[in-house]
Amino acid sequence: MTQSSSVNCEKFLSDLEKAFSISLNHIKVMISQFHKEMKKGLSGHESSLKMIPSLMDRPKGDEKGEFFALDLGGTNFRVLAGKLDGKRKAIVSAVSKFAIPKKDMQGTGVQLFDFIADGIDAFLTENSIDRSKVYDLAFTFSFPVEQTSLAAGKLIVWTKGFTAKGVQGQDVVELLNQALERKLIRCINVTALANDTVGTLVARSYADPTCDMGVIMGTGTNACYREKLSNIQELQSLNPKEHMIVNMEWGNFDKVRLTRYDRQVDEASVNPGAMYLEKMVSGMYLGEITRLILMDLMKRDFIFIRNPDSAEPFQKKDSFKTGDMSLIEGDETENLHEIERFLENHGISNVSLYDKTVLKRLCEMVSTRAAGLGAGAISAVVSWMDPELKDRHTVAVDGSLFEKYPGFGLKIENTFKKLYGEKAENITLVHSKDGSGKGAAIMAAVAASAAEMQKS
Ligand code: BGC
Repeated sequence: MTQSSSVNCEKFLSDLEKAFSISLNHIKVMISQFHKEMKKGLSGHESSLKMIPSLMDRPKGDEKGEFFALDLGGTNFRVLAGKLDGKRKAIVSAVSKFAIPKKDMQGTGVQLFDFIADGIDAFLTENSIDRSKVYDLAFTFSFPVEQTSLAAGKLIVWTKGFTAKGVQGQDVVELLNQALERKLIRCINVTALANDTVGTLVARSYADPTCDMGVIMGTGTNACYREKLSNIQELQSLNPKEHMIVNMEWGNFDKVRLTRYDRQVDEASVNPGAMYLEKMVSGMYLGEITRLILMDLMKRDFIFIRNPDSAEPFQKKDSFKTGDMSLIEGDETENLHEIERFLENHGISNVSLYDKTVLKRLCEMVSTRAAGLGAGAISAVVSWMDPELKDRHTVAVDGSLFEKYPGFGLKIENTFKKLYGEKAENITLVHSKDGSGKGAAIMAAVAASAAEMQKS
C-alpha cells in the first residue's frame, strides 16, 4: 500500500469509527427516547415499542410438576421435558434440537408447523413417552405475538428472516394444534404461550426473586420486564398493585442513527423499514453489516490489495457471519494467526498484518456499537422500573451473541458503570442458558395453578 493510500484508509476508518461510536451522551438521549416510546406503547398509542402484556407475572418458586416445552427461537427449535421441584429448581431431563430449513421458514405456515410437529413426534419416540397419557406443553414462540389468553396469541409480524405464509394474524397455538392433529399426535395439550424473553425472565426468577428483566441477544434481540398493572392502560381496571410481565419487542425501536451500511442491510432484508434496533444489535445482522463495510474497503483498495481475488468469498449476502466476527475479535495472538487462518480457509492468502488489524477493527466497531446500544436499552428499562436505582435488579440474558461474543457482556457492564457509578452494582447481568425452554416449563406450571385457582 502506498503511503497516501494508507493515509486515506486511516482517514476513512476513523470517520467510520466516529459514525459507529456510541457516546455516553448518545446513551442518555436513547434512554429518554426509550422512556417516551415505552410510555406511548403502554398507554395504547402508536409506538415503535409494542409493549405487549404477557398475561402472566413471575412465578413464586413453589410451582411443581413435570412438563413439556416447545421452544421456537431463531434458526432452530427445541423440544424439552422438564421437572420443577417446587423449591426454585428446574431440571431439564431431555432435549432435542432441530434446525429449521430455510424452505420451511419461508414456505407456508402448514409446512412450518408440520415440521415442528414432526420434531415433537421424534422427541416422543426417542424418549419412549407413553402416548396414551396427555401432557401439558408450554410453547415459547420468539416473535411478536398479541397475547389473547395464557395459551393463545396472534402473530403480529414475522421477524428474523421468517416469512412463512398464512401465519401473520393467526393464533399460533391453533396452528400448532392443527399440525399435531394432522400428524395424529393426541397426547399434547398446549397450556401456555409466551415470548422467549418472558421464558428467560420466568426461568431465572423461579430461581432468583431479584430477577425482573429478561433479555435475548442472539439471532434477534428483545426484552421483557415486570410492569405495574396501573401503568398498563388496557389493564388498569385490574388490581393496580399487581404486576405483569410486558414483552417490549424492543428490536423495533426506531430512534436510532443509521449508517449507510445499516440502510443497505435494512433494504435487503425481508422486513425493510422495521426492526432497526434489532438490525444494529443482533447476531443475524452484525456479520452482514461488517461484510458490507469490508466490501467497501476492498472496492477502495484499502484492504487485501496483495490478493486480487479477495472479493470473491464475501460477495454474497450473509456470507460473513457474526460467528466469524467472534473468532476474529477473539484473536489475541501477536501476529493475528487465527485471523490469517480464517482468511486462508476462505481463499484469501498473502494478507498483511495491516489487513488483519483492519479486519479486527471493523469487527470491534460493529460489535462495540451493538453492545453500547444493548447497554442503553437495558439501562432504559431498569431506570424506568427504578429511577433512583435503589433496588437490586437481576437481568437474565440469553442468546448466542451474549454467550459467545468475546467481551460483549463486559462492554455492557462497563457502560452501566460509566452511567451509574457505584450504583451500577445494583444491576447484575446473568447468563440464563436455555432459559426460554426452562421458563416455558415453569409457565406451564403457573398456567396449571392459575387454571386450578379459577376452578376452585
Ligand atoms: C422477535 C422477538 C424475540 C427476539 C429474540 C425478535 O425478532 O421479534 O419476539 O423475542 O427476536 O428472539
